Order: sequence, then C-alpha cells, then structure tokens
Amino acid sequence: VAAASGHTVVLVDQSDEILKKSTKGIEESLKRVIKKKFADKPEAGAEFIKKTMKNLTTSTDAASVVHSTDLVIEAIVENLEVKNKLFKTLDKFAPEHTIFASNTSSLQITKMANATTRQDRFGGLHFFNPVPMMKLVEVIKTPMTSQKTFESLVDFSKAVGKSPVSCKDTPGFIVNRLLVPYMMEAVRLFERGDASKEDIDVAMKLGAGYPMGPFELLDYVGLDTSKYIIDGWHSLEPNNPLFAPSPLLNKLVEEKKLGKKTGEGFYKYK
Ligand code: 3HC
Repeated sequence: VAAASGHTVVLVDQSDEILKKSTKGIEESLKRVIKKKFADKPEAGAEFIKKTMKNLTTSTDAASVVHSTDLVIEAIVENLEVKNKLFKTLDKFAPEHTIFASNTSSLQITKMANATTRQDRFGGLHFFNPVPMMKLVEVIKTPMTSQKTFESLVDFSKAVGKSPVSCKDTPGFIVNRLLVPYMMEAVRLFERGDASKEDIDVAMKLGAGYPMGPFELLDYVGLDTSKYIIDGWHSLEPNNPLFAPSPLLNKLVEEKKLGKKTGEGFYKYK
C-alpha cells in the first residue's frame, strides 16, 4: 500500500524464501486492486503494478537498510520480547529523525518505545486485514509520543490513502477492543452448543450486516493471532470475563489449525 502510493519501501523479513512469497502475494493483491481501479484501462493497470513493484525492494538485514528510512513499520510476531530486541537493534542504526511505529494488534506501544532511546519518535500504526481494502488506520499516541511525530503518522496514513483515527495506548485500541470480545463471545456461544458456527456466521452477516461472520473472521485474522491477543489481555485482567480464554480456540491452535493461512481453522480451506 505504501509502495502503491509512491513511497520507497524496503520490505524486510527473515529469509529470501519468505520475501519471495511475500513479493508474489503483493503482486497478486495488486492484480486484484487494478481489476477495479483500471477496469477499462488494462495498460494503465499494468503500468501501475510495474511502478509499484519498482518502489519495493527486499532485504533480510533490517539493521543494514534502516539507515535510509524515515519511517519503520514493524509487523513481526506478537511477542514483546522479540519486538523489543528488534527495536533496540534498529535504534542503534537508524538516523536520528526516523520514526518507529508498531502495527501490533494488542501489545502496549509504550513498552516498545521504552526499549529505545526515541520515545518521542515512537507510535502505533495499526492497519486492518486486508490492508489494500480496509480504509482504517489507528494512530496510537503514547504519553511520550511528540505532537510532531503523531502528526507525521497521521499525514503518512492519509498519504497512503487511509482514514486515520487516534486512540490512546490502551489494550486493543478501538477496533480490537470491541471486535475481539465479540468474536470470543461467538466462540463461547458455539462452545455451549447454543448454535452452530455456520448459523452464527450467517446470523451476523444477514442480521447485523457484517461482511464476514465471527468464525470466518477469526480464520481470516488467524487463530494464533487471536489467541495471542486474548491471552495477553487475560494476563492483564484475569477477572474480566470478556477476556477469558477459550478451550476450543486453544485446542485448534495446539493442533496448528490456525485458519485460512494453514488450510484449516474453524473451517477447512482448499
Ligand atoms: N488485496 C487486494 N484486494 C482484495 C484483497 C486483497 N488481499 N482481498 C479482497 N480484495 C478485494 C477484491 O479484489 C474485491 O474487489 P472488487 O470488489 O473490485 O472485485 C473486493 O476486495 C471484495 O472481495 P471479494 O469479492 O473477494 O469478497 P468480499 O466482498 O467478501 O470482500 C473483504 C472481502 C473485503 C475481505 C470483506 O469480506 C470484509 O470486509 N471482511 C471483513 C474484514 C475485516 O473485518 N477486517 C478486520 C479484521 S481485524 C484486523 O485486521 C485487526 C488485527 O489486528 C487482528
């Protein structure tokens, strides 16, 4: 999305194999985007993909590429220790002005900012799946984030075509604070045997106008990601029933049924 809006992007991941897969995924996604955007101008669409892909390079060594970036958006595993280790390293090699942002769904931005020496140039930028389609970005300001940094993050969100909203550094920010308890309630409804998952999904789509039912959405987001979120909040507030873990969700994750990405979650995918 950043490359498509004219930004120079370096995509960093752990191996060339993953990067190859990601690049292919981005190209496939762009093909879906141009189908609508350039419906009657296929050549302009092809040019758009070419231009976007030209803005994108890849690397397996974050420390060696961070010297030329104005903004780092971290979207790695939802594990605070691992994130902090990465931010600490990048903090040593990044220019003074570079802003660090995390795309975390549920971890505290303040804790990551405190792992660096740039607490005032640190914030949250939370995008939504599928990022090319979802218009929202949550911009998170910690008590240490400077107004200038916050405004830069808001401007960046607008520059990539999104509509930013702001939220304090609270668990789940706005969307996940409402969405995750709702999805967990759906799992509990199903666990109690009150309704089938298929009927719950149909009900929420046709009765509440949601584009996906809660089980479809859980599979789409990833059951591992959903479990990380709920486990983290449960440890913060063990008595909050909205944050109670689900035995069924835990079992599926244990069985490596993580949703669409592994071919099976609550549903099976080809
Ligand atoms: N890349 C590019 N385009 C995509 C895409 C992708 N990955 N996925 C879907 N699209 C496009 C399609 O090309 C299609 O475009 P068209 O209308 O021009 O043909 C359009 O989206 C609609 O797609 P489909 O016809 O395949 O299917 P739907 O109409 O069901 O839409 C959806 C798909 C946009 C994913 C819709 O089902 C939806 O909005 N679902 C809810 C998603 C949601 O709630 N996301 C938030 C998850 S929570 C989260 O991300 C936070 C995290 O922290 C956990």
